[in-house]
Amino acid sequence: MPNTQKYPDVMDKLVSLAKRRGYIFQSSEIYGGTGSVWDYGPLGVELKRNIKDRWWNSMVRSRDDIEGLDAAILMHPRVWEASGHVAGFTDPLVDCRQCKKRFRADDPKIKGTPGTPDVTCPSCGNKGTLSAPRMFNLMFKTFMGPVEESASVIYLRPETAQGIYVNFLNVQQSTRQKVPFGIAQIGKAFRNEITPGNFIFRTREFEQMEMQFFVKPGTDMHWFEYWKAERMKWHQSLGLAADRLDFHQHTKEELAHYARAAFDVQFDFGGTLGFQEIEGVHNRGDFDLTQHQTFSGKKLEYFDQPNNERFLPYVIETSVGCDRTTLAVLVNGYREESVEGESEGRVVLGIHPSIAPIKAAIFPLTKKDGQPEMARRIETDLRAKFPVDYDETGSIGKRYRRQDEVGTPFCITVDTDSTSDGTVTVRDRDTLKQERVAADRLAVFLFERLGA
Ligand code: GAP
Repeated sequence: MPNTQKYPDVMDKLVSLAKRRGYIFQSSEIYGGTGSVWDYGPLGVELKRNIKDRWWNSMVRSRDDIEGLDAAILMHPRVWEASGHVAGFTDPLVDCRQCKKRFRADDPKIKGTPGTPDVTCPSCGNKGTLSAPRMFNLMFKTFMGPVEESASVIYLRPETAQGIYVNFLNVQQSTRQKVPFGIAQIGKAFRNEITPGNFIFRTREFEQMEMQFFVKPGTDMHWFEYWKAERMKWHQSLGLAADRLDFHQHTKEELAHYARAAFDVQFDFGGTLGFQEIEGVHNRGDFDLTQHQTFSGKKLEYFDQPNNERFLPYVIETSVGCDRTTLAVLVNGYREESVEGESEGRVVLGIHPSIAPIKAAIFPLTKKDGQPEMARRIETDLRAKFPVDYDETGSIGKRYRRQDEVGTPFCITVDTDSTSDGTVTVRDRDTLKQERVAADRLAVFLFERLGA
C-alpha cells in the first residue's frame, strides 16, 4: 500500500461546504452538538440514498441469487452472546482519576504505562492518574419494557449481519432459493466508539450495506474471489479514482478467529488519514450458523435435495458502510481549480452524474422577455424525470459556481435566442463545454449523459 501523501487533506473544507450547502450537519447543533453523530441535509440525504439505491440494484434487483431483508434493530439478547459480541466486542480503555476523561489504552498520546505512577494523562497532564486498562464493550445497552433490570437488557445492533443469519432458513424456505445464494440488507448500526472522528468516517450511529452469501463448503474460496472482484468494480462504478482504491489483506494478527480469509477495500482519503477501510469482504466459514444453531437449539442446516445431503453453508460476507462510502465520494469529488479568463477560481464537487443529488439546474439569463416562463416550463418537464433545480438570482457566473459546489453535472440556460428558436445552452460541470440543444430534446440529452 502506498504511504506517500498523494492527495491533500480536504476534510475541514468538506465539513464546512457540507454544512453551508446542506449536505451534512452536526446532530443537535443548537444544543452544542452530539459527539460523532451527524444529520444528512437535503442534498446529503439524496446522495446517500442514490448510493444505497445503486448498491440495492446491483446486489438485489439485478440478480436472481440474492434476496433482500429488513431485519429489526432490536434483537434477542442471546443473539449477541452467540455472535461473540457480548464477550469480545471490546476495546481496552484507561480512565483518568483526575479529569475523568477516557482513552483507548493504545492511544499514542499516552506517555508511560497506564496504571503506573510514571504515566501522564494526555488531557489534564497529571502524572500517575491513569488507571490500568479495562475492557469496555462497544455495544449500546438499553432496557426492553418498563423495568430496568438485568433480565430486560437489550442492545442496539452493532452490525446488520446477525439479522441475516437468524433469518437464513426463513428466507431460504420462503423463496425456495438454492445454495449458493445471498441475503442483503441496508440498515442502521450503533457502536459506542471511543475514538470516533474524521467527520462521518467513524461515528456512533451509522448505516451498513451488508450481504451474506451462503455457499457449499469447499466452494468458499471461489466465491470469496468472485465477491472481492465484484465489490471493487462497484466502488469504481461510483467514480472513485482507480489509484485511490486498493485491497488490504488481513494479516494473521488482524484476522478474526473465525475468519478463513479477509480483505478490506480501502480508499485513499488524502492527507495523513490516507488509505482506510471502506468495505470488508470476509470468508466467515460456518462460524455464524454454527453459533446460532448451538445457542438457539434450532437446526439451521440446508437440505441439498438433488444430492440428498444436509450441511451448514459457509458464508462469504461483503460489508460496506454507507456513510464511509458517502465520505469517499465527497473526498474523491472535491477539487479547487482556476478558470481560464476568470480571476476567481471555483470549487467543484465532481460527483459521478449517476449519484449527484441534482442532475441539472435551469437558469433564465434575464428575468424578462419570456425567459423565466420558458425556463419554468423546462423545469416542470424535467422534474418529472430527474431531480432538478431552478435559479434566477445573481449573475450567471455566480449561479454556475453554486451548482459546481454542490456537484450538479449540467446547467441549462435559457437566453435571448431560446424563446425564438427553441434551443438552450447546456454547460458541462467538468469540461465547461457549452452545447446548443433543442429544449424538447433535453430529457433524452440528459438520459444519455447521466450514466447508469
Ligand atoms: N459484519 C461485519 C462488520 O460489521 P466491520 O468491518 O466492523 O464489519 C463494516 O464494518 C463496515 O462498516 C466498515 O468497512 C465501515 O465502512 C463501516 N463501519 C464500521 N464501523 C463504523 C463506524 N463507527 N462509523 C462509520 N462506519 C463504520
